Amino acid sequence: MAEKILVTDALPYANGKLHIGHIAGVHLPGNIYVRYQRLKGRDVVHVSGSDDHGVAITLAAEKQGITPKELVDKYYPVIQGALEDFGIVYDNFSQTSRPIHHETARDYFRRLDEKGCFDVREVDQIYCPANNRFLPDRYVEGTCPHCGSDRARGDQCEACGTILDATQLINPRSDVCKGSLEVRPANHWYFKLARMSARLQAWIDTKTHWKVNVRNYCQGWFNEGLSDRPISRDLDWGVELPIEEAVGKVMYVWFENTLGYVSSTREWAVAQGDPDRWKDYWLNPDCKLVNFLGKDNIVFHAILWPAMIMEHGDFVLPSEIPANEFLNIEGQKLSTSRNWAVWLDEYLVDFPPDPMRYCLASISPETKDSDFTWKDFQARNNNELADIFGNFVNRTLTFINRYFDGVIPEPGTFSPEDREMLSSVAGAPERVGACFESFQVRGAVRELIALGNQCNRYFNDQAPWNTRKTDRARCAATLHVCVQAVRVLAVVMSPILPFSAERLWKMAGLEGRVDEQLWDEIEIDASLSGRPIGEIEILFHKIEDNTIDAQIARLGRSDDRKDDGTASEEAKPAGPERNELVSIDAFREIDLRIADIVAAEPVPGTDRLLRLQLRIGAEERQIVSGIAPGYTPEKLVGRQIVVVANLEPATIRGVDSRGMLLAAEDDDGAPILLGPDVRVQSGSSVT
Ligand code: MF3
Ligand code: ZN
Repeated sequence: MAEKILVTDALPYANGKLHIGHIAGVHLPGNIYVRYQRLKGRDVVHVSGSDDHGVAITLAAEKQGITPKELVDKYYPVIQGALEDFGIVYDNFSQTSRPIHHETARDYFRRLDEKGCFDVREVDQIYCPANNRFLPDRYVEGTCPHCGSDRARGDQCEACGTILDATQLINPRSDVCKGSLEVRPANHWYFKLARMSARLQAWIDTKTHWKVNVRNYCQGWFNEGLSDRPISRDLDWGVELPIEEAVGKVMYVWFENTLGYVSSTREWAVAQGDPDRWKDYWLNPDCKLVNFLGKDNIVFHAILWPAMIMEHGDFVLPSEIPANEFLNIEGQKLSTSRNWAVWLDEYLVDFPPDPMRYCLASISPETKDSDFTWKDFQARNNNELADIFGNFVNRTLTFINRYFDGVIPEPGTFSPEDREMLSSVAGAPERVGACFESFQVRGAVRELIALGNQCNRYFNDQAPWNTRKTDRARCAATLHVCVQAVRVLAVVMSPILPFSAERLWKMAGLEGRVDEQLWDEIEIDASLSGRPIGEIEILFHKIEDNTIDAQIARLGRSDDRKDDGTASEEAKPAGPERNELVSIDAFREIDLRIADIVAAEPVPGTDRLLRLQLRIGAEERQIVSGIAPGYTPEKLVGRQIVVVANLEPATIRGVDSRGMLLAAEDDDGAPILLGPDVRVQSGSSVT
């Protein structure tokens, strides 16, 4: 029986349109993975949907003056449609506001309640007396008690990722209730997460193949210690607690949205006419559960959600949590309010989906944040898609049209070069597949480029335009080999470039559809000889400078997309933040010093962090720094570096850090330490 894989993509909040940041880290890698697994013949179900509850929704609805349900129903088709236009189609795309989800979440909650997973506590909550309401989660903003960011929200600090209670915020304030806020006691249901610590940690310890970013995040929480979490909220929008005493309370959005994966699968099963079929996946210990998500969701998926699954007892735990980092745009953080974003629907007005899919795959934020720039998009489209793949396909097929009457030639005997090319082509599925299997989409792009380059080189070296006149059999063999390459190329590129691959398949006159092929059986197909090719089109069109300039000019500008609720009036034009000027006095406030590294050791449980003991003049100091990817501890001792000596102290993964060192990054993102050219007095100022 085919291996069962259940793939979930994090549910986008139904409070606005989608931009390329949404798909770069979640929906696109999910879609690529699923397309690949289907070609491998595996039994895959791929679900997602919209995340309809929570304060992100109620806030947006209040701003637009509509009900939350009206809001989510307005964005549902917008979100689903944009994904679909990008070739991201699910077996089921649900909404968490649907009855099937409420039922699923309430049943699940009841089961956890029977297992004693909750207790009720009286706790302080932020209350607005003017409006007679509690203000949970994002209704309140303030200063983060951990990192000092002044934009921390009542549920989480985006700057450092810490999960918070609104009452922990320093100087809480609310956009919704401008008046003064109070703290009042209220009863809330707590999920006993602390008691799960050891089990969770032991489970994550077995996931040695997980991405470093995911394991590091988790280790950080274990270092700090897990605490019980309040999972009820005083809101009238959400899944009501299935408990009599809890009238007027709904589940915290993060306590039910992950169950949206389950309810979406149930909805799918119903639509298949086999309502119990979801159980073949969720209740099947052999089913592989893969959750795609962005890094801000890691704690919920790698800790809270597995804890909920372990406590329940019947459901499969995630096998893989391939979380991605964020996508920046032209060097700046993506911002919907500043319209510093590339919206999916707007992109599609000007371009086909595949070049964006390809570009995002090439810069996939797998191990660190990555930067989308329009120039890079243009370069990849023109220099890679058009010049490598498009060119090879075009020259092969037009040659056959012109000199072989549009019929794929018999190869006759293969030369050693032909054989070498064929064997490389035959090995491509395995090379590219290994990347897809291990979530390395960037690696897959590199393999594709290598193959494309090799194809063009082969074509050049074989010079069929000469052999056509001197050695017709040789020429036929060359073109035959090239068609074999085109065919395999279409299949191996199809997870990333599904639309182009399908067109290519037709152009080469191949039978059926590219997405019906089997990855492991693509092999060289001897029966191609004698078959007519199809109609040739340009596979990838080049993009002109002025088209790109127009896109760049659009960034950060408000326009008339007023119904979207995210941009419009508030959007301000913004120059790149890194170009904002600071005064010399502001610079002088930073105390830069030369320090000697006297000792260095890894911070346990992390792959990036080192604990360094420094001497800065007469003073000894400890700092924690993420330079392990570039330096072993031995290489560091004795070196001189530059540190920011007057930085606020911080605790990083449970270790005190007093200062920060300066480093650049090489092309691969590995750190490069900055220091004096010649030894100088320890503790000297850098000015
Ligand atoms: N809506 C959340 C976000 O955009 C993601 C929810 S993922 C879930 O960050 F599926 F677990 F709900
Ligand atoms: Zn913080």
